[in-house]
Amino acid sequence: MANAPPVDLPFARRLPKVELHAHLTGSISRACLHAIWETRRQQDPDLQLDDPLVAIPPGKVDYHVQTFFPLFSSYIYKLCDDLPSIVFSTRRVLEDFQADGVVYVELRTTPRAIPSRDITKDDYVKTILDVLREHNEQKSNTMRAFLILSIDRRNTAAEAQEVVDLALKYRNGGVVGVDLCGNPAKGDVSLYTDAFNRVKAAGLKITLHFAEIADSGTDDELNTLLSWQPDRLGHVIHVNSSFQERIKKENIGVELCMSCNVHAKLITGTFSDHHFGFWRDTSVPVALCTDDVGVFCSPLSQEYYLAATHFGLDRAQLIELAQRPIASIFTGASERRRLESTFKHWSD
Ligand code: IMP
Ligand code: ZN
Repeated sequence: MANAPPVDLPFARRLPKVELHAHLTGSISRACLHAIWETRRQQDPDLQLDDPLVAIPPGKVDYHVQTFFPLFSSYIYKLCDDLPSIVFSTRRVLEDFQADGVVYVELRTTPRAIPSRDITKDDYVKTILDVLREHNEQKSNTMRAFLILSIDRRNTAAEAQEVVDLALKYRNGGVVGVDLCGNPAKGDVSLYTDAFNRVKAAGLKITLHFAEIADSGTDDELNTLLSWQPDRLGHVIHVNSSFQERIKKENIGVELCMSCNVHAKLITGTFSDHHFGFWRDTSVPVALCTDDVGVFCSPLSQEYYLAATHFGLDRAQLIELAQRPIASIFTGASERRRLESTFKHWSD
């Protein structure tokens, strides 16, 4: 590849990619939300919800902590509140990732009950797993998809245990781990110690949103989170050198979401200031991730392209970077072998 041309977007799209940090509902495109809204409006002309193209204007990506979380609770969850919408949007999310060259995805979602429609959290999880299975069984699909269940920082300890119950119930049906997500300005994470200890004891994997904002980056919180022995950490922003050293020593995978961090102003500065610049020079498994492509509008191919542009990576370096997450996938040996073989046989 000595004389290869510089990385461009088509190259980043063709490159096989592994996505490890993508929230299902946050990955629904505006176009898909709009299609759901049109269907819902045909069924119910009195539907009291704005068109998504008005509620979430195309091109708007400057959501921050105060405006981001309400977007879900006060809008998207109200729009996608029946099983047909959940099935339709999950299929579209899978199609979108695959069309972008993603060959392996661990989607994550917070189990959601919709009492007005008689939908339990179990129904919600089972419905999504059915869509994932249908996708994985289709031989022509080049991407395989798995599910992580999220505990939200607003959950009670009992609700967190309910998420763990579901993860254990469906561990042979596609659930590979448990996450802690939600508004980082809320909650006391020590509430979930018993729940995550149960996840670990059962041999399921753990990923945690880690030090997203200064308030969730206190020594107390980070010590509690690390005591659960997580396998991967998301964001990893407000982390001092002693925690960086611990992450390196324990070889914990890091999930880095550049566009989300820049647009939501979770970091100071811009892409070239992103802490990817620090983690890329360590030996931990680094995974570039989208977080919420439906909100921040930067598909995984663009995250790789941005890394190449702002950190001066050539094609060979980008191919190497794309393989780094393989060491931290939650599924195990057979998927690891499939991914290694995909890269081995891939040539541009
Ligand atoms: P869902 O879990 O599939 O419903 O995806 C949307 C949910 O993911 C939101 O309600 C948030 O709780 C969570 N989420 C999405 N992005 C972030 C993030 O950057 N930090 C923490 N939580 C997030
Ligand atoms: Zn996230």
